[in-house]
Amino acid sequence: MASYQTTKKPPLSRVKVRPNLTGYERTRKTFRFTDVYKELDWLPDGGLNKAHECIDRHANGASANKPAMIWEGKNGEQERYTFADMKRETGKFANVLRGLGVGRGDRVFTFLDRIPEHYFAVFGILKAGAIAGPLFSAFGPDPVRDRLLDSGAKVLVTSPELRGRIAHIFKDLPELKHVIIVNKLGRDKTPIAPTDLRYEELMAKASAEFKTDNTSMFDYSIMHYTSGTTGKPKGAVHRHMAIVQQYITGKWVLDLHPDDIYWCTADPGWVTGTSYGMLAPWSNGVTQLIYEGGIRASTWYELVQRHKVTVWYTAPTAVRMLMRSGTRVTSQYDLSSLRYINSVGEPLNPEAIVWGLEAFKQAIHDNWWQTETGAILIANYAFQEVRHGSMGRPLPGIEAAILDRSYNPLPPGQQGYLAIRPGWPSMFHTYWNNADMYNSKFKKGWYITGDEARVDEDGFFWFVGRADDVINTAGHLVGPFEVESALIEHPAVAEAGVIGKPDPIAMEVVKAFVALKDGYEPTDRLRQELLRFAREKLSAGVAPREIDFVKSLPKTRSSKIMRRLLKARELGLPEGDTSTLEEE
Ligand code: PRX
Repeated sequence: MASYQTTKKPPLSRVKVRPNLTGYERTRKTFRFTDVYKELDWLPDGGLNKAHECIDRHANGASANKPAMIWEGKNGEQERYTFADMKRETGKFANVLRGLGVGRGDRVFTFLDRIPEHYFAVFGILKAGAIAGPLFSAFGPDPVRDRLLDSGAKVLVTSPELRGRIAHIFKDLPELKHVIIVNKLGRDKTPIAPTDLRYEELMAKASAEFKTDNTSMFDYSIMHYTSGTTGKPKGAVHRHMAIVQQYITGKWVLDLHPDDIYWCTADPGWVTGTSYGMLAPWSNGVTQLIYEGGIRASTWYELVQRHKVTVWYTAPTAVRMLMRSGTRVTSQYDLSSLRYINSVGEPLNPEAIVWGLEAFKQAIHDNWWQTETGAILIANYAFQEVRHGSMGRPLPGIEAAILDRSYNPLPPGQQGYLAIRPGWPSMFHTYWNNADMYNSKFKKGWYITGDEARVDEDGFFWFVGRADDVINTAGHLVGPFEVESALIEHPAVAEAGVIGKPDPIAMEVVKAFVALKDGYEPTDRLRQELLRFAREKLSAGVAPREIDFVKSLPKTRSSKIMRRLLKARELGLPEGDTSTLEEE
């Protein structure tokens, strides 16, 4: 298992390490998540629905004309939507879905860029009582097909261009009944199929009046696929009651106030982009900036300056990319509106912390959670000093521990499995169609996160690394099996083993070791072809960045590829226990 800790430490003169924990301790002892129930609006008939808490509750009250979304397109387009506008658009889309026969529990997936219609669609799906499955728009056909097939999705909402990218998968999806095409600003000329439905036409005919489905707090709302060591990604399913924790962490961890302009840089295809790019800010009635484009330091700073962003939630890879452009660029913009910065998804390394202090004149607050946890569980809070390099302390109401190999708690200072006591409101309820895998995550009354960490005497948790072979590249988890499966579909490939290779920006990049079938030569041309082949099937982020040809792969006697050994060899580390290694 790799350790991501680096040796470089932030200068101690800038970092206060003895926070005042009094308020935290008091809240921690008395807080119950049920205390938050009275802060929710609830549906008139007693149910709970995320769309109601995020949109209609504000649209029906004093915030109706407050901007909910400030959108900037990748070509500089700007649009603004108030909570009342959001209520209208999401109501219309819920009516569109009802008209197509979509009801409680149906799966409706979105495969769109960060455009307003993506957000309208997700909340329309929730209003209709269906389960929303947002997909990352950079995906290639394989990840999209796997997810639609596994979930039995009934409707897909996409754009002409993205539809074109996955055109050949539709024949494999018997349960998919409708494809709705959003053509934002009519800017996409890619042809669509005659059977496709046009979003703009459907919306023009739809009524804006919609009575939100009276879902219970236990009904399913959103699913996100996440990668494990074995098999294809699994659909972690969340319930409407997750909003309890998304709302309260928005307040406590992101420190959201009613007059904030908040910007979460994550894509809705990943859990951060829904829990904190939709649910936490809007349940708190906060205005958020949504930017369609990718990362470029000058554009990002311009956005902060132009929209006077106050709270920012981003990822260490993004911070490291900004670092590359240096503090000279930062100083050319007025970033004084920024009062609070958070980061998640990967270890925030000391270099990034030091740079953040220089560039933004404030600490970046790291926090920890997962797709499965649905919301932040461990955080450096606004009301206490940041302990740099640590992920922070568990949220009040959360019990976290470090366990040994037999799943018994370890004392402070020792490294082991990071585990959480089940029962928090945003806890996933199952992996879709995979109860066995879900059940396997619970040991001796703990949810086992798959991470290794340690806790210090003051209760701060420190990330050490993944306990499994899952790769974290730019904050996105990649399952090696998924990449290996794509590679072996190429006629030249006999077998493939995939690892995460340390990288200064993305933390890890995907690296593959490939053994060729007889008759194929390990040429540079073939390497390039395999790189392209994987990129087209998967996506640039998931596909290998590097391929090494090998004669054969190290395997256990039961024929499992020993990725741990591939990684040790790649990094020049000791090979560890090789007693189960088959002759190579
Ligand atoms: O390994 C941990 C890493 O990201 C994993 C969760 O990834 P995912 O399910 O895609 O959820 C993304 C939403 C956060 C964790 O198991 N991770 C997350 N936060 C941190 C982290 N690693 C180190 N430090 C963090 N703050």
